[in-house]
Amino acid sequence: MVAAPLAGKSASSLSLNAIATRKGLRFGSAIASGAPGADRGSVANPAYANLVASQCGLVVAENEMKWQALRPTPTTFAFERFDTILRWAERQHLAVRGHNLLWHQPKWLPAWLNTYDFGTTPHREAERLLTTHINTVLRRYGQRIGSYDVVNEAVRPADGVLYDTSLSRALGGAEPTLDLAFHTARVAAPHAQLVYNDYMSWEPGNAAHRAGVLRLLEGFRRRNVPIDALGIQSHLVTQGPDVAASVTRLQRDWRQFLDAVTQMGYALLITELDVRDNGLPADIAVRDRAVAEYTRGYLDVTLSYPAVRDVLSWGLCDRYSWIEGFEPRKDGARRRPSLYDTQFRPKPMREAVAAAFATATSR
Ligand code: G3I
Repeated sequence: MVAAPLAGKSASSLSLNAIATRKGLRFGSAIASGAPGADRGSVANPAYANLVASQCGLVVAENEMKWQALRPTPTTFAFERFDTILRWAERQHLAVRGHNLLWHQPKWLPAWLNTYDFGTTPHREAERLLTTHINTVLRRYGQRIGSYDVVNEAVRPADGVLYDTSLSRALGGAEPTLDLAFHTARVAAPHAQLVYNDYMSWEPGNAAHRAGVLRLLEGFRRRNVPIDALGIQSHLVTQGPDVAASVTRLQRDWRQFLDAVTQMGYALLITELDVRDNGLPADIAVRDRAVAEYTRGYLDVTLSYPAVRDVLSWGLCDRYSWIEGFEPRKDGARRRPSLYDTQFRPKPMREAVAAAFATATSR
């Protein structure tokens, strides 16, 4: 595809999705539901919702499609909060991704499922529970959702081994459980892109995680499990002030990983981009520049793979990022993980993402 001239608009006045689209990419973000007027990163907060609608071509619900949100009890579904996001997105003509159909860790399943009594035929009951969940969600949304994280974070980062859950114990192992999720999704939503989503990254300490994900993806191919893409979450972590050196050092292993994944025929998506500003001084200008440079280096390497078509950030502004609550900075300074600051103003990271899209090869 040849990019058309910018038609009088400077790159900075274009939305990120408009810049992405010129290269055959899409840009999106996570968004939440919330009470009208509440100061949250939600569709009911006009300041945030307008920012997302103005910059994005697609969105994903930050929490509202997870079992913990959708399944208050073994027999009920609570769709209202997700439906609010979907209706809002459709009014804005935004595509929607589904996240996720099975977050395969006990910690992120509803409490009732971790202690569930599977009865005298546990295999059959676990199969019924999992397939009912996936079929109900996929049939409800039909063509309105074009891509699903069918399985999320099934690999233990420390050793690359698969997690077990109450479901996998009843079904005779993690592999049959994950396979069943994908097979069920393919039949219920033949139109949809089916994704395995995880946070193996390029930073030190991720080698066992990457190796475990590669083994899982190889196994899926060997067993003919229907999967289209690997979702690379991309919760990045800066490695100190010498960003150029970090990028040079990290890209070798990262390219090896991406080569292996794409050689197996998987498409790639960046699903949850944000940055933990570790090893950087509190000074905001210095930190923002380093975060932007690190993001740019990561995107340049990763977008050099034409198999990447979608880039989503995990929230668009610092004000609502999950990172501040889960992993605050040791020096007490507020985290600056996102493309926009707490006042919805664009940061250098926004320019870095725009520049990475603008210089990416067309796909
Ligand atoms: O909704 C309840 C609210 O009713 C309650 O008062 C409050 C008290 O803690 O908790 C609220 O739920 C929280 C929810 O976020 C909504 O804010 C949960 O405790 C909290 O665990 C949950 O955290 C989310 C986390 O996933 C776990 O689901 C984060 O917002 C969300 O950003 C994070 O997203 C994950 C991706 O799904 C997968 N990849 C990693 C990524 C970051 O951790």
